[in-house]
Amino acid sequence: MASVPSLASTVQQRLAEGLSAALPEAGPADPLLRRSDRADFQANGILALAKKLKGNPRELATQVVAAIPENDVLKEIEVSGPGFLNITISDAAIVETLAARAADDRLGVPFNPSAGTTVIDYAQPNVAKEMHVGHLRSAVIGAAMVEILEFTGEKVVRRHHIGDWGTQFGMLIQYLIEHPHELDHKAEDKGAEVSGEEAMSNLNRLYKASRALFDSDEEFKTRARARVVDLQAGDEQTLALWQRFVDESKIYFYSVFEKLDMDIRDPDIVGESGYNDMLQETCRLLEESGVAVRSEGALCVFFDDIKGPDGNPVPLIVQKSDGGFGYAATDLSAIRDRVGNLKASTLLYVVDARQGLHFKMVFETARRAGWLNDEVKAHQLAFGTVLGKDGKPFKTREGETVRLVDLLDEAIDRATAVVEEKKEKAGLSDEEVAENGRYVGIGAVKYADLSTSAVRDYKFDLDQMVSLNGDTSVYLQYAYARIRSILRRAGAAKPAAHPELELAPAERAMGLHLDQFGAVLAEVAEEYAPHKLAAYLFQLATHLTTFYDQCPVLKADTEEQKENRLFLIELTARTLHQGMALLGIRTPERL
Ligand code: ARG
Repeated sequence: MASVPSLASTVQQRLAEGLSAALPEAGPADPLLRRSDRADFQANGILALAKKLKGNPRELATQVVAAIPENDVLKEIEVSGPGFLNITISDAAIVETLAARAADDRLGVPFNPSAGTTVIDYAQPNVAKEMHVGHLRSAVIGAAMVEILEFTGEKVVRRHHIGDWGTQFGMLIQYLIEHPHELDHKAEDKGAEVSGEEAMSNLNRLYKASRALFDSDEEFKTRARARVVDLQAGDEQTLALWQRFVDESKIYFYSVFEKLDMDIRDPDIVGESGYNDMLQETCRLLEESGVAVRSEGALCVFFDDIKGPDGNPVPLIVQKSDGGFGYAATDLSAIRDRVGNLKASTLLYVVDARQGLHFKMVFETARRAGWLNDEVKAHQLAFGTVLGKDGKPFKTREGETVRLVDLLDEAIDRATAVVEEKKEKAGLSDEEVAENGRYVGIGAVKYADLSTSAVRDYKFDLDQMVSLNGDTSVYLQYAYARIRSILRRAGAAKPAAHPELELAPAERAMGLHLDQFGAVLAEVAEEYAPHKLAAYLFQLATHLTTFYDQCPVLKADTEEQKENRLFLIELTARTLHQGMALLGIRTPERL
């Protein structure tokens, strides 16, 4: 495990040295380095510095260049325009740096063992309810952030804050008491395992039937309300039935997460009910400290800057006037648990942007109560809405929310058709077609979600998602499989770095991009921006396409060049594979 400094950071350092040697009076200054089309990098920092020192920027630039000691990395530094520096890296430095990356399991990406602890709240569906596309986003973005943060060294604790508590359980449980066989399984009778589909269809049926009764039968309504009280009081029979709903729902959740090729672990599922025994105390602490006040019987927290359309303040209601606790009380208790017991230094919430106000109020309340302080960062990684092709929130023709499983199945079907077409050429068995169909279909859905900035809405368009051309996961998966195929066909020739060779422009461009992997990951982790990783990988695949056009691999001019090109594409494959794995997307060997 050896982290490899990027060429950009090496250049940055050399320039900074040159700057302080030539212009000690300027103090530490940023050379403002960026990638450039004219050379490999351009530095613009001298312009601002010249202004500050009231000097001629071109002259200063010339002095800086002269002050940079001889070295193997910088092949050429040229002063251009009003005082920019155009910097070209030596071919040997590029290949040597990449060889150092290739020699490391982690591709030279730094690992910080003393990073903090992030508790991440993601993949939080609701018990007894169907999962929809909003739950998809939270799960997909959250899972990618877990992998990315862990890869950088952060300790990550996962929390699936499922909606497993609330008044609707009174109605459901009461109905089940009155119709005891409603949750029995047909499949179990036959000794088969219960499928997620069956579990959900049971729950759906129960939900609809109990709702109908609740709305039409006053006496049932009264019994259902009394059942809520029993549930909250911890009555044993009531709790046991509640547990059956939770367990039944988990069968369904797990089936969806498995379809999503996602690893969700039972101990990490700590739903709203997990904080029940903290709620009372949370309210007491808030009230005693004066952070919350009683208003019309309810326990409320007020904010100067949060007002409704009528100009009246909108409070965060921690406890309702009937004594019931809501969503906010649970989230506040969860903060106490995550900071106090789990020792989080960061709380990350992957939740729909429409819950932004809720989290703003919850975080502010926790800060006032001292549960959050300067040492703990709380952040909502807010995501936008999934839209249909028509640009409106995604609904079925009947106006119902679209079931996530139906979408996933359709994506897999479409992808399987795409894979099937290339079956002969790739030499795939039927099983491989089915497996790749799943990897391509699920990858397509994940990638579409991850490749736009989370907070933006995006259109769920399966045609676009499984397209072989364009910014799609299958384009990246093909790029990977193509490299693997070339490596298999290389026979005796093995990938080997040859720093003595001159590089073609496409090799340089791809090489410099490969070298940026660690820097991009650091930015992605820091900004919670997985779309920047997707963009990086797409650019890498684009560089690869240009490289293939210009640089024959197996038919290279010399044996050394062939080995060096095999080395370049192998590192590209590893980078693609690693990057896609962080996004939760598989890269089949043959496609
Ligand atoms: N279950 C909620 C929903 O479906 C999301 C929970 C978000 N997490 C939280 N700590 N409030 O909208």
